[in-house]
Amino acid sequence: MLSLHKNTKGLEQKSLEVAGELSSIPPGEPVLVVCHLDADGITSGSIIASALLRSGAAPHIRVVKQLDEAAIAEILPIKARYVVFTDMGTGQRQLLERFVSGERRVFIIDHHQPPPISQDGGDSEATSDIMEFNPHFFGFDGSTEISASGTAFLVAKKMSSENASLAPLAIVGALGDMQDKGDRSSLVGLNASIAEEAQRSGLIAVSKGLKLYGFESRPLLKSMEYTLNPYLPGLSGDEGACFKFLKNAGIEPRKQDGSWRSISDLSNDEIRQVTSALIKYLISQGLSSQDAESVVGVLYTIKSEPADSPLRDAREYASSVNACGRLGKYGLGLALCLGDRTGALTDLRELLLEYRKKISGYLRWLESNPSALKVMNSIQVILAGSNIDDRMIGTIISIAFSMKPFTRSKPIFGLANAEGVVKVSARGTPELVRRGLNLGTAIREASEQVGGTGGGHNIAAGGQVPVGKEEDFLSIVDGIVTKMIGGVKL
Ligand code: C5P
Ligand code: C5P
Repeated sequence: MLSLHKNTKGLEQKSLEVAGELSSIPPGEPVLVVCHLDADGITSGSIIASALLRSGAAPHIRVVKQLDEAAIAEILPIKARYVVFTDMGTGQRQLLERFVSGERRVFIIDHHQPPPISQDGGDSEATSDIMEFNPHFFGFDGSTEISASGTAFLVAKKMSSENASLAPLAIVGALGDMQDKGDRSSLVGLNASIAEEAQRSGLIAVSKGLKLYGFESRPLLKSMEYTLNPYLPGLSGDEGACFKFLKNAGIEPRKQDGSWRSISDLSNDEIRQVTSALIKYLISQGLSSQDAESVVGVLYTIKSEPADSPLRDAREYASSVNACGRLGKYGLGLALCLGDRTGALTDLRELLLEYRKKISGYLRWLESNPSALKVMNSIQVILAGSNIDDRMIGTIISIAFSMKPFTRSKPIFGLANAEGVVKVSARGTPELVRRGLNLGTAIREASEQVGGTGGGHNIAAGGQVPVGKEEDFLSIVDGIVTKMIGGVKL
């Protein structure tokens, strides 16, 4: 069974064990690191690759959309005695058994909840040659307290104390996975310990402020326009509306020389003024006071990044790496996380423009196609067909929570066409999870009943179902969710 108490000693021992094995890989030996395409995937892969490089091994990284038969078939022929999966593997353990043959040594460094079959107390690797490190086995919740990059960081630090410098990447990964669910959007649990340590050693600064996108690096007007989480109805994506909003709030958006004002140009009184105007405006737009107030929160700043860099604010860093992954620019995401601050930064600025355009286009499509929204007993569904890229559907449903006509009282599911299958993504809220929602379990069970696959966290999960089975899947998953949260009245 999974441990119910937090077994800190066990976690420590396991990280030491994995670190010991990885450190003993002979110098120059190729190691294949396979990671997921989102921010936590790419940062976790980069942490392990950096630690391996430091210890003398020769890592190369492969980013994949999901760990399925097709991905395994692609990876199998790659010649590497050592393979490390990060941010994936726990839910695909059986599939990975095929991967283990002869001399091959396989590691899983993951934070997804284990399917029932591998809930055997963390010693599951005793039965095979896979060495698996997942904080769930030691009573730590991988959907809120630690990300894959945090888990990878625990191992990296045991490989060498010098790897403590990788802590900012662990924070970026946790924020990318939206684990900032503590008071005022702070990190909690093991994530908070990593952040405290990084703050003590001067790597990051932790402060409270407006959680607008790129707040430190961009003009106030632009950071409002670019903020998508929370979605600012009537402001996100609309420069003219943000200009008017600031004027109405009594804030002059420009300096006397005509250039835009950024946060450092505003007095404390003006910051207070804009904050309270924004909260009032969001409430007037139908957001709950809790959601509206979520524009103020704990900010994590990476001190070594220059003030105007999209990598200085750890949330913006996460969203940048996520954009690279979601647009298939894996090399760029990895280059940034591995420390390239020259060409990669220029490429990133261009890519971010493209990413924002794509998201705005998808949101416009959603707003003008109400028939794509299906409201069921306990879930709300976006039927995107081929109108939203399957790699972006998860991002869009996360944003949809703060958009009309979506409600926070039901999880949002998104269905998008992928190559020969239908990609499913689902997102919940902490409140729904408190009431018993477990999207990872719901998607796994429902997709398996229609011949598909899936899994993930209680609050965010994904999967794929065969074409033509969408309706069956939705009615099964709606039934499961109804049982979990007890049916929700509209
Ligand atoms: O594969 P992985 O665990 O890294 O991905 C989790 C996904 O769930 C991320 O894309 C993250 O943005 C999303 N998420 C979310 N809302 C939450 C928690 C996670 O959208 N509250
Ligand atoms: O793909 P999406 O961003 O919606 O994934 C949400 C979460 O579900 C991620 O943590 C992802 O790793 C997980 N997932 C999974 N099995 C799948 C698809 C997604 O565990 N087949």
